[in-house]
Amino acid sequence: TWTAGNVIAEQVAAIRAQVGDARVICGLSGGVDSSVAAALVQKAVGDQLTCVFVDHGLLRAGEAEQVEQDFVAATGVNLKVVDASRQFLDALAGVTDPETKRKIIGREFIRTFEAAAREIVAEAGHDEEVRFLVQGTLYPDVVESGGGEGAANIKSHHNVGGLPEDLQFELVEPLRTLFKDEVRAVGLELGVPEAIVWRQPFPGPGLGIRIVGAVDAERLAVLRAADAIARAELTAAGLDRDIWQCPVVLLADVRSVGVQGDGRTYGHPIVLRPVSSEDAMTADWSRVPYEVLARISSRITNEVPEVNRVVLDVTSKPPGTIEWE
Ligand code: XMP
Repeated sequence: TWTAGNVIAEQVAAIRAQVGDARVICGLSGGVDSSVAAALVQKAVGDQLTCVFVDHGLLRAGEAEQVEQDFVAATGVNLKVVDASRQFLDALAGVTDPETKRKIIGREFIRTFEAAAREIVAEAGHDEEVRFLVQGTLYPDVVESGGGEGAANIKSHHNVGGLPEDLQFELVEPLRTLFKDEVRAVGLELGVPEAIVWRQPFPGPGLGIRIVGAVDAERLAVLRAADAIARAELTAAGLDRDIWQCPVVLLADVRSVGVQGDGRTYGHPIVLRPVSSEDAMTADWSRVPYEVLARISSRITNEVPEVNRVVLDVTSKPPGTIEWE
């Protein structure tokens, strides 16, 4: 029978058998999956683990701070924070194709982990290299990246289809057979804080796949501002647990004419993509109350000067996916 306790016991044994007394790093994003994977590995091998939080410049407002406050405070895990935003934005400059973006981001994550691993070894004076990399890959990630039996490659999740071929680490993926609701149950059983366990999904490639068009610092700032408003209003309306997640997307290459005061504007649209789902394999668009949508729309168009239009995505999955890229 499936219980969170059984999964934990099995995975702890499997991790110990795989890792032995070698050193391990875990890419921590602050989301549910990587946090629960890290907590499992910490339970299995304790101080052999160091978590690495990569600021790739594609984060939402306030995310780096949250990881340090919530997760590290609760678990006492070893944490290394790396600011790699320059490196990621340089690598993404001018790239518009979604799969290319995903592959670049996957590759840069690994390069960053490799550099961080060398630093961890040097700083702590360990006599052994880091051999293992923990990833919070879930079953749906595997299937949709074409790893499941007979599955088509719908998109390359940054931690599955986006990995470079000359990967220097062996992967530890203790959540590879689990769905999100199972991961949450395992996280609660492990004592991961509720604020993390119930956090809405956010993709590893971050805002990089929520800008339709090339990614740059100015566009990221626009999207970050719009996203922070949408999140604040959905939270204030008490909708966080009703909605699976709400991607906020900037159509950076689209402009439309608007009017503000006495003047013409020629700005960009923001798309709101609130969805309800059980496991992200299928989804429906959320019927968010009109008053809440109205507040989000008027705040974004008032507070973010580059945006003059807010639109709602009313497509289920399939045929749409949850993210736009
Ligand atoms: P799609 O857009 O495929 O998204 O319907 C399904 C779920 O997966 C998340 N997602 C990702 N998560 N790395 C991740 O960690 C990725 O590359 C990635 N791509 C999509 C998406 O936010 C949704 O919850």
